[in-house]
Amino acid sequence: MAQTNNNILKVNNLCVSYGHIQALKNVSIEVNSGEIVVLVGANGAGKTTLLEAILGSNPVERGEILFFGRSIVNNSIDKNVRTGICLVPEGRGVFSMMTVSDNLLLGAHHNLHGVDKQLDRIYEWFPILSERSDQIAGTLSGGERQMLAIGRALMSSPKLILVDEPSIGLAPKIVNDIFDILVDLNKKGYSILLSEQNAYKALKCGHRGYVLETGNIVLEGTAEELLNNTGVREAYLGA
Ligand SMILES: Nc1ncnc2c1ncn2[C@@H]1O[C@H](COP(=O)(O)OP(=O)(O)OP(=O)(O)O)[C@@H](O)[C@H]1O
Ligand SMILES: [Mg+2]
Repeated sequence: MAQTNNNILKVNNLCVSYGHIQALKNVSIEVNSGEIVVLVGANGAGKTTLLEAILGSNPVERGEILFFGRSIVNNSIDKNVRTGICLVPEGRGVFSMMTVSDNLLLGAHHNLHGVDKQLDRIYEWFPILSERSDQIAGTLSGGERQMLAIGRALMSSPKLILVDEPSIGLAPKIVNDIFDILVDLNKKGYSILLSEQNAYKALKCGHRGYVLETGNIVLEGTAEELLNNTGVREAYLGA
């Protein structure tokens, strides 16, 4: 793949282990400015491990992670969030006993500068969160909760959004809404690294992708190349 000079994230030969289990084996990926990059992989492939290593919540054993050309490997989560990385975690991870607005404000705790403006922006982009601002997050629907998780991540004013399996457990119509939101955010200028088992829909809205199998990147290409790849179709697209 051609090397571009608008590289935001570059991961080189990353290795992460849990005890004697090596979950990532020399993983190399990159995200360029303005891209939605999809990480396709089955259960246990290592998607969450990779996103958490980039965020800083998983210790890296070996390899390099560059964000805007600077090494961020094994930085604290706080530092990485302040630099412009955020994670929308698998299973949404909203604080169910707290209100929608308190969940959003928590997303800005690393950097309170401009928080009011960013909150107004999130409410404008997600009117449902504005309507439900005083509602306890645990009473939101699954789709609303996913919107809240995305909104909370955006509160840190990121440059790169890591999104871990946003479609899990949602009805197909809501999944489409969530992917529409990600495409819309991408058009607003956010670069996105999206992990998904729902490979078809994710690749339909992404620019490029990687296939991760048991900790190895086994294939990479444009979204169209992956959608048309026989192996990908058989393993991940049910075709
Ligand atoms: N805390 C942990 N301790 C030990 N092993 C772990 C831990 N977290 C993940 N693993 C193992 O690492 C591998 C990768 O897991 P990971 O959660 O990254 O996969 P995933 O692609 O996100 O899967 P899923 O689609 O089910 O979320 C799996 O074999 C998993 O069992
Ligand atoms: Mg996972």
